[in-house]
Amino acid sequence: MKYNYEDWTVIVTGGTRGIGKAIASDFLKQGAKVIATYFGNDETANQMKEEFKEYKISTAKFDVANCEEVEAFFDDFSKHNESLEVLVNNAGIRKDNIVGMMPSQDWHDVISTNLTGTYNMSKYAIMQMMGKRFGRIINITSPSGKMGFAGQANYAAAKAGQVGFTKSLSKEVAKRAITVNCISPGFIDTELIKDLPADLVKQYKSSIPVKKFGKPSDISNVAMFLASKESSYITGTTIEVTGGL
Ligand code: NAI
Repeated sequence: MKYNYEDWTVIVTGGTRGIGKAIASDFLKQGAKVIATYFGNDETANQMKEEFKEYKISTAKFDVANCEEVEAFFDDFSKHNESLEVLVNNAGIRKDNIVGMMPSQDWHDVISTNLTGTYNMSKYAIMQMMGKRFGRIINITSPSGKMGFAGQANYAAAKAGQVGFTKSLSKEVAKRAITVNCISPGFIDTELIKDLPADLVKQYKSSIPVKKFGKPSDISNVAMFLASKESSYITGTTIEVTGGL
């Protein structure tokens, strides 16, 4: 489906690879100005800028978990941009371990990036959106937050937290025509799950009704839809894109 996001400004956290890259790319192709943020890899970010040099792309490197860095990013953002139509809170990490063996640092890192990062970014984004009385916040959660997978207590807690955060924030900003929703991707072929052992991959695939992992574009399709003006009556909810998992 074609959308027209000409004149829109979109921030996608973790937007230079995987699911975030697919979402950023689709917004760029529909005419939006996109700021793809990232934390680690300059090379990947530069490749993305090169690949989309004909489009309105920029990148920004900072840690979404660090509220000072997020504030500095938005200070700069508001100097160079008139409005913000869409924020996609996509940045996320996994540090799996059973609870009894989980280092406290791994607990905090996963909560800070996935959940506190969503809060940090949303807090400043809604300030940009309120005045214009329009906005879309899309948070990328996970089925782990709903089902809980063994070895993912930190990740499951963070992802379930995003769902609760989404419901509360959606009620706070609905009057300003800002919608807040989650997308819950099933297993999507990206770097994030590259470390899964082959036997586990086989086991997971056989448990998915459509019998395969999804692609980043399966998620970006839904992000395009949720961002559209036509989706104004959808808020505070989660759309599951899991192949029936
Ligand atoms: P990925 O590992 O390819 O990309 C993650 C992105 O997040 C990277 O661009 C990275 O730079 C960024 N990031 C990580 N920590 C950051 C921080 N502290 N500050 C700023 N940026 C940071 O992963 P993938 O698969 O594209 O995941 C995207 C989102 O989708 C994540 O939130 C993940 O939890 C979620 N998800 C992924 C699934 C999958 O099967 N791939 C399934 C369910 C949810």
